[in-house]
Amino acid sequence: MSVTKKRIWIISIFPEIFTPFLESGVAGQTFNGARGINFEVSAIQLRDYCSKDYKGVDATPYGGGQGMVMRADILKNALIEGVVIPGKYGDDYRAKLHIIYTGPRGRVWDNDYCKEFALTHWGESDSKDLVFICGRYEGIDERFLENYVDETISIGDYVLTGGEIAVMTVLDSAVRFTPGALGNSGSAEFDSFNDLLLEHPQYTRPREFEGKEPPSILLSGNHAKIDEFRHKEKLRVTRDHRADLYHIYSEQENE
Ligand code: ADE
Repeated sequence: MSVTKKRIWIISIFPEIFTPFLESGVAGQTFNGARGINFEVSAIQLRDYCSKDYKGVDATPYGGGQGMVMRADILKNALIEGVVIPGKYGDDYRAKLHIIYTGPRGRVWDNDYCKEFALTHWGESDSKDLVFICGRYEGIDERFLENYVDETISIGDYVLTGGEIAVMTVLDSAVRFTPGALGNSGSAEFDSFNDLLLEHPQYTRPREFEGKEPPSILLSGNHAKIDEFRHKEKLRVTRDHRADLYHIYSEQENE
């Protein structure tokens, strides 16, 4: 299955970080357009868009304080020269691009958000391409956020040294909700969190490991019993490891 081409642009001072990600495993294949959606990802070097008179991408903050702030003019330049012009988006590029910044002030990424994001942006009705802006240092100039950023995503309540890992987290987790990406080998439907429960434990060869055998029911060939066992295991694992999720699940079940 292949739908229209979806371009993903990433603006970063470390675009090379994305190379192994984009060359490995299911995420690599998906974002290289080999599964499901015809993706094309381009990670561009922000430093290539510095102005001639000032070579840096950052500067000290007005008002003083620690660290450096990424300059709005350089980011804008990278957006226009590195994305809008090569992507041929034209003067109305704002209507054709959805620009995302990853930073701690964003909505916190979780399974619902991930599903919503994939349905919105990987759906056939959405024709916008995506641009991810990876911040570094003490953040980016507020005026760029105000004027150009459509959505801010945080991957959790902690501060990363840069947005690159957050962008990979977003893309990697959204793969599960990409039509056709998991093929027959797996389905997001059965993954952890989809029904608020964690995944049941898995076992494979060898049959005996350090004196331990897999639960015998898994070797029985009785699929109804295996399903029942696995469901109970999901409940047990969730209760033991994520009491908070188990609590929400139990409340929903009792409604
Ligand atoms: N950049 C720095 N911290 C971040 C976070 N928590 N989520 C997303 N991007 C970030």
